[in-house]
Amino acid sequence: MTEPLVLGIETSCDETGVGVVRGHTLLADALASSVDEHARFGGVVPEVASRAHLEAIVPTMERALKEAGVTLGDIDAIAVTAGPGLAGALLVGVAAAKGYALAAEKPIYGVNHLAAHVAVDTLEHGPLPEPAIALLVSGGHSSLLEVDDLATGVTPLGATIDDAAGEAFDKVARLLGMPFPGGPPIDRAAREGDPAAIPFPRGLTAPKDLAAHRFDFSFSGLKTAVARWVEARERLGEPVPVADVAASFQEAVCDVLVSKAVDACRERGIGTLVIGGGVAANSRLRALAEERGARHGIAVRAPRPRLCTDNGAMVAALGAHLVARGVAPSRLDLPADSAMPL
Ligand code: KG4
Ligand code: ZN
Repeated sequence: MTEPLVLGIETSCDETGVGVVRGHTLLADALASSVDEHARFGGVVPEVASRAHLEAIVPTMERALKEAGVTLGDIDAIAVTAGPGLAGALLVGVAAAKGYALAAEKPIYGVNHLAAHVAVDTLEHGPLPEPAIALLVSGGHSSLLEVDDLATGVTPLGATIDDAAGEAFDKVARLLGMPFPGGPPIDRAAREGDPAAIPFPRGLTAPKDLAAHRFDFSFSGLKTAVARWVEARERLGEPVPVADVAASFQEAVCDVLVSKAVDACRERGIGTLVIGGGVAANSRLRALAEERGARHGIAVRAPRPRLCTDNGAMVAALGAHLVARGVAPSRLDLPADSAMPL
């Protein structure tokens, strides 16, 4: 078989994404975001997201096919995010995928959103060496995964016990008067600040925490520490050094993420670290991972920032991998599963 031509549909959160890939080659990546509609609420509102997906799904689908220069008839398989994510939002994508699969008589693959965040890197850097360690950091998840087989063997090593890393960026940005989503403005502000200005806490890195939470993360204490620090400044009537706070907060998050990811690679004897999810777009996270990875002979892979945040191409990339590995398609009655495990 020539490389499979696969269409991927993503609607698990606030981005309606439809991507088309041929094997590891990206042909189209159409995106409609409802992020602006959520911005005034400071976070994603599930009902608003579902309605926006409903309005965007058909035009985004048409745009992707046009961009790829193919018709639905040319496609070998349709992949769709079946979970985890917002239940109502997932349902829109799954229902659409079923409709298209039924109409065009194509096999359908219900895929895991987290595995898709890992798979998208293959569009940039080719096949993923297995085993690999994946650091997956987004607005909804922060996990360390061992990827023995991208198609069938992704095992969680640890995860956040409270806030996701992206959620911490969003909450701290709000505190500093920056718009939602908060990752990009903090990333920008931090470039002008001193990452060592304020020694914010590194969650779950003390020896007693490491015993029970070797590869877990915690960011809610960090967020509270930033809030207290800013409040103390304001109480004294002193200006808040926004760039220093942003840089010091970002350093605390990236330090913990990279330390634990590198430790996982070293402990498991694995030489490849792949970073994915919206927070993987962070410039400091990428630089620090590169720097510490190089020190320990670990190859660090991260897709370009646009592919780190939610999109349809990542779903198509995982779908193409499943087709190439000969994995059987899902049944046409596949459910959307908001808490889908890996
Ligand atoms: O993967 P994603 O698009 O959606 C989820 O599945 O959650 O991730 C969105 C998250 C948001 O919290 C956003 O603030 C964060 O990714 N993000 C960043 C950056 N760009 C997006 N965080 C830090 N630095 C960035 N440059
Ligand atoms: Zn995501």
